Amino acid sequence: MAASARPYVIDEMISAKAIAARVEALAREIDATFAGTQKLVVVGLLRGSFIFIADLVREIGLPVEVDFLEASSYGDATVSSREVRILKDLRGEIAGRDVLVVEDIVDTGFTLSHVIRLLESRAPRRLEVCALLDKPARREVEVRATWTGFTIPDEFVVGYGIDYGQRDRNLPHIGKVRFTDGGAA
Ligand code: PRP
Repeated sequence: MAASARPYVIDEMISAKAIAARVEALAREIDATFAGTQKLVVVGLLRGSFIFIADLVREIGLPVEVDFLEASSYGDATVSSREVRILKDLRGEIAGRDVLVVEDIVDTGFTLSHVIRLLESRAPRRLEVCALLDKPARREVEVRATWTGFTIPDEFVVGYGIDYGQRDRNLPHIGKVRFTDGGAA
């Protein structure tokens, strides 16, 4: 059965207000870390990071350039394929530049570790990672974001850019999927 064919409701886990406050605090730390940069290249990993990056760049006080990379390990599935494919590469060069990778969630870690390896091979001056959510219980490869917005338990989460079977990305908060058919997640 397709993931989202099961009936479910969404329980709020992190409010829009709490997200906004955390995004602002993360931006202050990013400003301090990259202070003096000529231009920070902020790289959003599509599709899940599109709302987070939009809010984050509006709080960052440094000159920024925005670029996107699309890497996919899940597609419409709920289990990681462990094979990360680059579906869309950056438009710009990052050699010698200050780069901030923006990710929505670190789960098994396959996506982020693959992307970090790829971008490091292009010799940026400095590369840091900001992930909104971290689910450490699911980690299979060691990878750590420089900044994490929230550490969460092993639950299906949706909203603020994150989907469940391509649905619910447009929720303003982060919610937890709760199945109502009595089956396990
Ligand atoms: C999701 C999410 C992260 C990645 C995290 O992307 O946006 O990029 O999985 O999982 P991992 O740590 O187990 O690799 P997905 O492939 O679902 O694409 P999407 O961003 O387009 O939803």
